Amino acid sequence: MSSSIQASPVGVFDSGVGGLSVLQELRRELPHENFVYLADTGNAPYGERGDAFVKQRTLTIARHLLQEHRIKALVVACNTATTAAVAELRAALPDLPVIGVEPALKPAASSSQTHRVGVIATRGTVNSARFEQLRQAFSDGTDFRVQACDGLARAIERSVEEDPDAGPSFKEIRELCERYTRALGSFGVRTGDIDTLVLGCTHYVFVKDELRRLLGPDVHIIDTGAPIARQTRRILVQRDTLANEDSDKAPAGRLHLYTTGPLSALQAAAERWLQLGPGHCSALPA
Ligand code: DGL
Repeated sequence: MSSSIQASPVGVFDSGVGGLSVLQELRRELPHENFVYLADTGNAPYGERGDAFVKQRTLTIARHLLQEHRIKALVVACNTATTAAVAELRAALPDLPVIGVEPALKPAASSSQTHRVGVIATRGTVNSARFEQLRQAFSDGTDFRVQACDGLARAIERSVEEDPDAGPSFKEIRELCERYTRALGSFGVRTGDIDTLVLGCTHYVFVKDELRRLLGPDVHIIDTGAPIARQTRRILVQRDTLANEDSDKAPAGRLHLYTTGPLSALQAAAERWLQLGPGHCSALPA
């Protein structure tokens, strides 16, 4: 395998800033990889837009990342895009390794002691045929309580440029988290309680503290960032496209982020969650 492929970036995309939660884990797991991240904020949220739209955006973005950045693999850091479009994406671009993100029902089912698991995700994800298959595959012995969280990803997008103590979107986030978790049932570790909550949307990782405050210290909150990062490593190793990791000579990976929405919002998110300066971000037409 030529070293130029090994130096090519891994593409990562989401409807907006949610996939930065996956990117954090990718950078931890693969510190020598180059990454290019695309936030399709100009078209977010995907969860309430319907399958046809999400499929079209996913294919357009994958082709763009291939043509403009020669990505060697693509992480679809969005549950909604994965459930709606990953099969078409793999069929349309068979040479591109694609790593998708799906709600972690399997680990939740095997770790829950009360056998009652809450799942929060977008409307698009919970209504998808793929999610239904996943649920059926692991529901033997586990009662999954599922809630679509309309408006939550949008409020998280809006919050990135606000002050966490006083911003109106933070107030909305608190209210939505409370309403949606209450709708799932009682949380705790006693018989009949939900003892595990699956975050089925990459945006929700950024409101984990709020969820923890609402649900208490004993509830297990599961997201998929770290397993996806390990899966990405496995795929790169299998394809012999992993960046050079030899201790002293290996350079640190580079990262650039693009957005189809307001540049200032991506810059604020990159600073808040990745400690990156504004020069790492650029705007693209929607
Ligand atoms: N972050 C996305 C997900 O994991 C979707 C949020 C949205 O655009 O609705 O599903």
